Amino acid sequence: MASRLPEVAPAATLRERYGAVRAATMGLAALLSPEHQLVQSMPDASPTKWHLAHTTWFFETFVLSRFVPGYRALDPHYAYLFNSYYEAVGPRPPRPRRGAMTRPSLEEVGAYRETIDERMHAFLATGPDGADVLDRIELGLQHEQQHQELILTDIHHALWSSPLRPAYRPRSRPRDGAAKTVPALKWTSHPGGLVEIGHQGAVFSFDNERPRHRTFLEPFRLARRAVTAGEYLRFVEDGAYRRPELWLSDGWAAVQERGWTAPQYWDLGSDGWSEFTLEGTQPIRLDAPVSHVSYYEAEAFARWAGARLPTEAEWETMATGCPIAGNFLESGALGPRRADGDAAGPPAQMFGDVWEWTASAYLPYPRFRPLEGALGEYNGKFMSGQMVLRGGSCFTPWSHIRATYRNFFPPGTRWQMSGVRLARWD
Ligand SMILES: [Fe+2]
Repeated sequence: MASRLPEVAPAATLRERYGAVRAATMGLAALLSPEHQLVQSMPDASPTKWHLAHTTWFFETFVLSRFVPGYRALDPHYAYLFNSYYEAVGPRPPRPRRGAMTRPSLEEVGAYRETIDERMHAFLATGPDGADVLDRIELGLQHEQQHQELILTDIHHALWSSPLRPAYRPRSRPRDGAAKTVPALKWTSHPGGLVEIGHQGAVFSFDNERPRHRTFLEPFRLARRAVTAGEYLRFVEDGAYRRPELWLSDGWAAVQERGWTAPQYWDLGSDGWSEFTLEGTQPIRLDAPVSHVSYYEAEAFARWAGARLPTEAEWETMATGCPIAGNFLESGALGPRRADGDAAGPPAQMFGDVWEWTASAYLPYPRFRPLEGALGEYNGKFMSGQMVLRGGSCFTPWSHIRATYRNFFPPGTRWQMSGVRLARWD
């Protein structure tokens, strides 16, 4: 079993970038046995094999079928099997049954990827140009990077669900659960006023990041780092999961119905608290950001701490101008790392480590227009009942994230690499 992740260098040409992104996906899957690549541990999570096939289907459906004259699909069943949620493309198997797809085999899915890669490289060699086709190819690459993160979050849940709790990869080094000293939380002030958020310009963005628009902020303060596991442990040990006054009504209902007592992968044993990571069960790293908490838990923690969650406009205003640097997938850490957030300059950990829940519902920006056709279903139809997360995580590829990037999940979601950053009124 390999223990290192492939490194993805920034690629100079579209062909190189295509090859690098597709190879990075296979690098993540290479650490998994065929059994592990088929398992689906809950309806929200998909098997690795399905991710490998679906990302390939995306290029075949939205690039090759659209732009190669007379294109014939490799297998007519794949249009049905590997469609995720595109009503305009056609029917698909129910999402909770993806783990029952014992055919095509893993080998056949690998051959599907190879064939589509050959066809894509042949197509790219023809020098396609024009915004329409180039935007589709870039969307396919960004889509595949989203699924790279999902491969890790989904297998994390699957391995945790397995009775023996096998690791995704061997432990890179023994973990010391003892916290190094974490400086007291500091804050950066913003005077508020009229600001602009949203994406503008030639660099890729998803439709939900546009259009750029004005919004008004009251003066506020943003925490200079993410909330640590040690800080969250104090919340747990203060009996927060037994105190309804700290929770939103829906959050308290979730605590009771789902039996939550701590973040998703935490366990209290005779030796104290541990957490299940991609490197197996480990002592909790108290000085690193807490992860795998729902919006409800993030919101309750903020109330307990005498603070609140930032809105996405506040978050983006502070993140704009911060370097896109941090603990991303390419670091190979596969878990959040400590940051002191104590130095001068921009707040720490705005990018990487953990996605940060915001207080903002996932809604269309003023004058939002989804993409034309079936791809209009990519983001726009999910703008109900979900909350926005910002900043990317240690599972996110570096070249995938921006200050304007809007991730979104339902408020009870815990299997994502989601954490907490606090804000306050100034
Ligand atoms: Fe997808």
